[in-house]
Amino acid sequence: MISNSLEETKNIAHKFASTLVGGDVVFLEGDLGAGKTSFVQGVLEALGYTEPVRSPTFSIMNMYLIANHPTIERVIHLDFYRFESPREVHSLGLEEMMENKKNVFMIEWPKNGIENGSDIRYTRSIKFRSVNEQTREILIS
Ligand SMILES: Nc1ncnc2c1ncn2[C@@H]1O[C@H](COP(=O)(O)OP(=O)(O)OP(=O)(O)O)[C@@H](O)[C@H]1O
Ligand SMILES: [Mg+2]
Repeated sequence: MISNSLEETKNIAHKFASTLVGGDVVFLEGDLGAGKTSFVQGVLEALGYTEPVRSPTFSIMNMYLIANHPTIERVIHLDFYRFESPREVHSLGLEEMMENKKNVFMIEWPKNGIENGSDIRYTRSIKFRSVNEQTREILIS
């Protein structure tokens, strides 16, 4: 898809959110400022979360409780940008949290924290590419 504004990216995220189910693990890849966090903000908006949603660049992990959804109780938003090695991910206890199929994971910069052959696998992948200041290419698979 092509998005020509922040608002269009949020609209794409709203539609995507309607296809999310508990247990989904979403990898969000693309350069700095490509729109990954904005997309997650759109997803949470669509799931009825009304409080501010901030980037987990420094907190690493932010958790949001979702009310009134048939399969999702929690959205866990992660950002591994600052990770230097996949080893750091183990200390978060992600594997255990993934056993709860009412959790949804949205992970920015997944490759900085998750190595090939890890037990952590995505169910959905979103790739962002900045075409120019306002335009983004968004590939959902
Ligand atoms: N079409 C667009 N879609 C999304 N964001 C856009 C678009 N056009 C401009 N922007 C701007 O690009 C920035 C996207 O920032 P965002 O924090 O979502 O990026 P990010 O991919 O999460 O970056 P980081 O890797 O640093 O976490 C925002 O400032 C937003 O206003
Ligand atoms: Mg971000």
